[in-house]
Amino acid sequence: MPSVQPNSRATMLFVTRKELFLRACRCKPVDRVPVWMMRQAGRFLPEYREIRKHHAFLEVAKTPELAAEVSLQPFLRLGVDAVIVFSDILIPAEAMGLGLELNDGGPVLPEPVRDAAGVARLREFDPEIETRFVGDAIRMLCRELGPDVPVIGFAAAPWTLACYLVDGRGSDGFPVTKTMLLSDPKLFRELLRKIAKATAAYLKAQIAAGAAAVQLFDTWAGELSAGDYRDFALPATQMLIEELAASETPIILYTKACGHFLAEAARSGASVLSVDWRVDLAHLRAMVGPDIALQGNVDPCVLLGTEPLIKRSVEKAIEQTGGLGHILNLGHGILPATPVENAQAFVRAGQEYRPMAPNTRTFVPQVS
Ligand code: CP3
Repeated sequence: MPSVQPNSRATMLFVTRKELFLRACRCKPVDRVPVWMMRQAGRFLPEYREIRKHHAFLEVAKTPELAAEVSLQPFLRLGVDAVIVFSDILIPAEAMGLGLELNDGGPVLPEPVRDAAGVARLREFDPEIETRFVGDAIRMLCRELGPDVPVIGFAAAPWTLACYLVDGRGSDGFPVTKTMLLSDPKLFRELLRKIAKATAAYLKAQIAAGAAAVQLFDTWAGELSAGDYRDFALPATQMLIEELAASETPIILYTKACGHFLAEAARSGASVLSVDWRVDLAHLRAMVGPDIALQGNVDPCVLLGTEPLIKRSVEKAIEQTGGLGHILNLGHGILPATPVENAQAFVRAGQEYRPMAPNTRTFVPQVS
């Protein structure tokens, strides 16, 4: 018997949350969509803020008991259908040999990669040793949750991690990174290759620890032109996904502001393409075909509005896919100012809406 139970309504009668989630990832019929939220373990929850009063961000991420506790908070409060492990996309940057500071101004890497020597210095690390705390947090979560709830692991996609490794901090357009890509493509490809290799090992360790699916965050892919995405970011992402193929674990590729190359992104090899609120999911479905699942894509700002707005927005997103091959989520992370009851309304609206006839695949998405 798992020791943790959510305090909200149960899932379908005969299907566990994990089965539901995996069926959606594989575009198999379901009788409702699974729901979770990016950044669900974080600052909008008072219980997270309470823990952060006593522990620094990196301390939480590197202490499996604390990371697992924080990961469970949204499950207990909201009854989401999947639990993402609490960590950060920049954890591997540290393991690759760069320093990492995470303070109120966001993450800073004080010794960014700026030249060939910097790329050469990046280490491929052993995730079972140097980032073992991530695997330990996942193992702990799987133990607490039992076999019926999926735990999601994650990492940055190669381009997005490169943005932080080279610019050294979040910045508008990541100009240093783009300049390296444009002026020394050979060196930049080597950087992406090293990141992809290290990330593949890092995610394999998360899968071995029990992650039922893994998400690649390509949050900054939208900074690239369609051509540069195709020539640089996509091949590195494909190489990484190819390395994970043997495990048959679903891989979710998150993209933001990538409307100009979503058809390319759909060829990454990921089983799920996660998109932001700019995208019409029915158009996307028509473009990418029936065999890749979609995740998203309610605007996080909707959760700052009223409950009827939240319900309408959720139902609109689900109607665009017919609920088939769809994991309901936000288009980007939940905003720290979101009232908890609005996050609950989002999850409830998604779990209660059933536009699809049970066990059929007959729904035709409405293209508006
Ligand atoms: O989704 C979850 O609940 C799991 C935890 C998670 C965090 N970061 C915790 C976090 C995940 C999946 C991430 C991903 C992440 N981290 C991304 C990709 C997704 C996205 O939102 O775009 C990026 C770009 C980062 C890098 C990062 N980490 C930034 C830019 C910042 C500072 C800005 C911010 O949002 O605060 C962080 C810090 C961070 N990572 C926090 C959390 C909860 C806030 C730190 C705090 O507690 O004070």
